[in-house]
Amino acid sequence: MKHHKHRPPREVLIDGFDARGGGQGLDANGTRWSIRGAPAGALILAVGRNYDGTRLALVKPSEDAVPPPCGVFGVCGGCQWQEMPAQRQRDEKGRMLARLLGELGGEDHGVVSAGEPYGYRNKIELTFGTARYLLAHELNTEIKRVGRWLGFHAPGRFDRIVDTPDCALASPAINAVYARVRADVYASDLEFWDCNEHTGFLRNLILREGLDHDVLVALYTAPGTEEQAAWLREHAPGWGATCVGWFENQTSGDAATGDLREVLVESGRGLSIAASLGGIRFQLSPTAFFQVNVAGAELLVDVVRRYLGVGGSVLWDLYCGAGLLGLANADRFERVIGIESVEPAVVDARANAEFNGIVNATFVAGPVEKLVGTLVTPDAVIVDPPRGGLHPDALKVIAGLAASAGTPGQPDARVLVYVACKPTSLLRDGKLLRAAGWVCTDRLAVDLFPQTAHIEVVTRWVAQRAGHLSPGQGGAPPLDAGSPG
Ligand SMILES: C[S@@+](CC[C@H](N)C(=O)[O-])C[C@H]1O[C@@H](n2cnc3c(N)ncnc32)[C@H](O)[C@@H]1O
Repeated sequence: MKHHKHRPPREVLIDGFDARGGGQGLDANGTRWSIRGAPAGALILAVGRNYDGTRLALVKPSEDAVPPPCGVFGVCGGCQWQEMPAQRQRDEKGRMLARLLGELGGEDHGVVSAGEPYGYRNKIELTFGTARYLLAHELNTEIKRVGRWLGFHAPGRFDRIVDTPDCALASPAINAVYARVRADVYASDLEFWDCNEHTGFLRNLILREGLDHDVLVALYTAPGTEEQAAWLREHAPGWGATCVGWFENQTSGDAATGDLREVLVESGRGLSIAASLGGIRFQLSPTAFFQVNVAGAELLVDVVRRYLGVGGSVLWDLYCGAGLLGLANADRFERVIGIESVEPAVVDARANAEFNGIVNATFVAGPVEKLVGTLVTPDAVIVDPPRGGLHPDALKVIAGLAASAGTPGQPDARVLVYVACKPTSLLRDGKLLRAAGWVCTDRLAVDLFPQTAHIEVVTRWVAQRAGHLSPGQGGAPPLDAGSPG
C-alpha cells in the first residue's frame, strides 16, 4: 500500500477549480494543490496528504470576496462557495468545464442560471440527534456536545448534528415553517433520536415547497405513544404547513423512511402538494423525486427541448425519475418511453402523465442497463443518469444507435441529449460515444446549485447517415450564456 506523506501547512493561492470542486492553486514551491472549500483568488493555509488539502485558515480573501450569509457555512457541508459572488462562481464553473470537456467537441455555450442565488431550494431534509457537532468557537464553551439537536449532518459524521437555525439555500416559506417546528420541538420534552443507542422519538424532518408557497412537512419518528401522538396533534396545526404527515420508522437506519401513521394536517389532496415545471403539473409526495431548484430547472427543461429539436416518432427518457423531461417533450413525439429503477418514482411518473392528460408516454420500472436493449428503436434519446454516469451495458446500446442511423428501417438522423450532474462521468461516457460515431454539437451548463460546487451539464449529440445532415442541423438554436435569464 502506498503511503502518502503529511506535509507541513502551506499557503496556497487559489487560481481555479478542479472537477471535484476543489480550489486549485500553487504554493510558494510551485507545487499544485487541490483544497476543498477554497474560494478562487484567496490565499489559503492548507495541510494535507499529497497536496489534497484541507483548509486550515483563510490568510487573505480574494478582492471580490463576499461575506457568507450563513452562520454554519463551511460546517454543515451543504455549501462550499458562499465566499464568492454568484457571477464568479459561474465563471469558475465555466472555466473548469471548458478545460475538462473541450476534447468532446461541440460549441460551448457557457453557464446559465435563473432565479436567486440563495433561497432557491424547495426541499430540505433535517435530522434530530443527541450529539452536536461543535464549531471551532464553541469548543470549551458552555455549549455541550450532548443534548437535543436539530439540523444537518456534519459531513462524514453520521452521528453529529450541526445545529441549524435556518438554511440560506432553502426558500423563505420553508424556513418560516421550519422555524415554528424547531421552536416547538425544542420547547417540548420529546426525546430526539440517539443513533448509537437507537433510542428516542423524533428522527427526521422533510420540508418541501410547492406552488403558491404551499409547504408539506413529513416528520419521521420511532413508533409513538398516545401521549406523543397527542403532542403532535396539538402542535402540527400551528406550523403553517399545508399538510403534515407523521411516519413511524421501525428500523435503526439513518434514512427518512417509514409507514404513514397519521396525516396531522390535511390539505384536501391527501399528503401531497402541487408543483409545476416545464409546463407540466406535478403532485408531490414527501419523497417523490423533483428538481430542487425550479427556476433553474425551467432552464434545464428548455435547453433539453431545444437540443431535441423538431421531434419525431419515438423518444426514450432514460433515468426518467418522475418523468419530467419525457413529459415536457411528449407533445413532439408520437411515443415517449421512460425507464427508471425506483418503483415509486415510476408510479409518480405515470400519475403525472395522467394528471396532465398525456396519453403517449409509457413508464417502465427497472434498470436501464437491463431494459434498454428491449425497446423499440428511437429517433431521439434523453439520458439523465445519476452521478456515476451510464452503466457500461446501457452505454453499449446507446453508442450502437449511432451506427444504425440511416440504415434501412432506421431514422436518417438521431439526437441524443445527455444531462450530466457529474462532469467527469460525462467525459468518460462522451469519449466512448464519440468513438462509436456520435458527434457532440453543443454544450451548455445550468447552475442549478449556486453556492455549491455542483453543476448540471447538458450536451447535444447527433448520429447521422453520411452526408445527410451536418452537425448542428436538425435542432433549434441553443440557449447560451448570453441569452436572457
Ligand atoms: C438525475 S436523476 C434524473 C431525474 C429526471 N430526469 C428528472 O429530471 O426529474 C437520475 C435518476 O436515475 C435513477 N436511476 C439510478 N440508477 C438507475 C438505473 N440503473 N436504471 C434506471 N434508473 C436509475 C434514479 O432513481 C434517479 O431517479
